[in-house]
Amino acid sequence: MTGAPPVVAPRWEIGGDFETVTPDLLGHHRLGAQRTPPWVGADDDRRYRYVESGRQALAVVEAALRASGFTRLLVPEYLCDSMVQPFAVAGWQLVPVPVDADLQVVPAGVAAALGPARTTAVLHAAYFGRPTPAALRAQLRVAQDHGAVVVADETHLALAPEHGIADIRMASLRKLLPVADGAYVRLPPELEPPTGVVDVQSGMSAAAPEDNGVTRIRTAAMVAKVGHLGGDGKDRAHLPLFTAAEELVETRTAPRPMSRASRRLLAQLDLATVARRRQDNAAALAGALTGVPGCRVVTPPTAGSVPSHLLLQVEDAPALQRALAATGVFCPRHWPPSELVPQRRPWPTCYLSVPVDQRYEPADMMCVARLIAGALIHPAGGDPR
Ligand SMILES: Cc1ncc(COP(=O)(O)O)c(C=O)c1O
Repeated sequence: MTGAPPVVAPRWEIGGDFETVTPDLLGHHRLGAQRTPPWVGADDDRRYRYVESGRQALAVVEAALRASGFTRLLVPEYLCDSMVQPFAVAGWQLVPVPVDADLQVVPAGVAAALGPARTTAVLHAAYFGRPTPAALRAQLRVAQDHGAVVVADETHLALAPEHGIADIRMASLRKLLPVADGAYVRLPPELEPPTGVVDVQSGMSAAAPEDNGVTRIRTAAMVAKVGHLGGDGKDRAHLPLFTAAEELVETRTAPRPMSRASRRLLAQLDLATVARRRQDNAAALAGALTGVPGCRVVTPPTAGSVPSHLLLQVEDAPALQRALAATGVFCPRHWPPSELVPQRRPWPTCYLSVPVDQRYEPADMMCVARLIAGALIHPAGGDPR
């Protein structure tokens, strides 16, 4: 019996760490493509420092604020611990501010927690790329008028940031873009960190290494993931590499320049196409999930914003996360419970973030929507693809 060749199912996977970027996203030179990154906008780009990670950018902020006498940080009660880690290590008082069911900070909570002028900073993070609601914007302005400094963590928002809200802005770039390392931080002149605390040049500095340990390992992981997606048979060789890169990031807390390799890739990325694909994917997924029983789209797309993920509220997010992972859709839960910020109530388990990034297209999103609907209707059920 000769038999037909075995059918090899195409690997289809959504989410997880970025693999190596595809050529269709490299094209800053294309006519009409955006040359200045959106986070710089009309700003003076010499004011931006580029470091290896979001945590290093926040360490720059921490040092500058501490040198000016700031000791308290108001933070959303629902957060990623890496947002506050440099402040916690330096002994700041972390004051949680309540968030509502949409994970938006409650403006009255900011008002209630303000301390004496020039002691309190407010860490404002527009999660999932959503614009800041008008009432919260107004409250942040009031806080500034009372001598507080507003720090915007634009990690989810870097592709369409809100200029004019914050005194200090920063973002980790590797959450939205396939760079192996990278983050930016922008300080006003009066809050420059003391000389010697932070030795990071802006721009493509001579001090920046071509790569660093993190870049090398994460790039190897990205290449291995391309092999995995192509069915190379080296089952999941990328996963331990991504873990090793992440572990290294955690040890490198002192600010160092972003690698030249990542700076170069950043300059080549077609960020306008990246943004448009995210918008198209989020719109397709939100549309397909509207009305699905047991699922609320918390972050429906809004004009001009660029989503990091589509946030869903379901009854049991861990169960949905497991069911989707079994079908090749890897959705993060933003975030695991905080260990650094005191909590007033149990950590919610109803939020799941669905990837809508530039690797995918609306047809993928329709498939993801069917899988989500199927998993919600038949919690232990099969794959409706
Ligand atoms: C909102 C937000 N800010 C900052 C960070 C820290 O960035 P990094 O992991 O590059 O240190 C993270 C990381 O998950 C984050 O989600």
